Amino acid sequence: MILAIETSCDDTCAAVVDRDGAIRANVISSQGVHDRYGGVVPEVAARHHLELVDVAVEDALRRAQAGWDDVDLIAVTQGPGLVGALLIGLSEAKALAAARDLPLAPVDHLQGHVAANFLAPDPFEPPFVCLIASGGHTLLARVEDRHGFTVLGSTLDDAAGEAFDKGARMLGLGYPGGPALQRLAEGGDPQAHRFPTADNVAGLDFSFAGVKTALRYALREDDRPSDADLAAAYQHAIVEQLARRTERALEETGLERLAVGGGVAANAALRERLARIGVPMHIPPRELCTDNAAMIASAARYVTPLGPGEYLGLDAYASGERGL
Ligand code: KG4
Ligand code: ZN
Repeated sequence: MILAIETSCDDTCAAVVDRDGAIRANVISSQGVHDRYGGVVPEVAARHHLELVDVAVEDALRRAQAGWDDVDLIAVTQGPGLVGALLIGLSEAKALAAARDLPLAPVDHLQGHVAANFLAPDPFEPPFVCLIASGGHTLLARVEDRHGFTVLGSTLDDAAGEAFDKGARMLGLGYPGGPALQRLAEGGDPQAHRFPTADNVAGLDFSFAGVKTALRYALREDDRPSDADLAAAYQHAIVEQLARRTERALEETGLERLAVGGGVAANAALRERLARIGVPMHIPPRELCTDNAAMIASAARYVTPLGPGEYLGLDAYASGERGL
């Protein structure tokens, strides 16, 4: 069995997963302390990981009804993410592996999001295009096999989830803003206002700075649509941008399968719009779309593990090895 740890952002996660991708336990301890700041505070996140990571690991083993003798590999997120936060998970993983004489597999967080699609009981086989949209990242990946991916496009500024969060904040909604904005948008007319969809951005990259600024200006107008209408139109613009780039990625690669991940995959309007593209689509269950350690274990199955002499000096990376 694989014991995996993920601490790249604000969730302290540990999971136990079988080699065949069956999830034995998937523990996610959401810190819930960042809401009052309207976003994640890196230093606060790191401190909380330190308090929670041991408990999360113990909890995962207990829920999996597994002991240390059952674990034959430790997996951990190496990056990208908040360095202070990543280092807590990485140190924990090194210590556990060294103490038990186990190999360690360092995993790329984004490869983890891709590998969420390979988990049992419903694995989705490559080749496919993968859209990952969360609070921290927005990218399109070409996935040919279970071992890796190539980036087709990524955001030039904000992530899609960040655009939802910032829009929600401007509309006076709480954090995280995505679910709240979706709820407000349900009573609104998406055609009530036209927000930019960054069609001028070349290739398969994304940009959400324009839509955010446009909302700020729209809110200043005296004679403006209702908040519900603005929320609906704002959501529509984000969803259209994500969907049009995804359509283009499918066309350009000639691939005919689509996987979706990241917290924004929970958005109902996005799911509906992507379904209309008409290719077979796979969206893992919500708890596997948002940050979790089961996806890190899943990816670790295809990483060459390191022995103690190799992993003790391993460092975290903040932004992608892959240039993200
Ligand atoms: O993957 P995730 O849990 O974590 C991080 O990126 O850290 O994604 C969280 C993001 C937040 O920005 C949140 O607002 C967004 O996903 N989100 C949504 C919805 N549910 C979560 N955005 C739009 N609609 C939703 N229903
Ligand atoms: Zn993530």
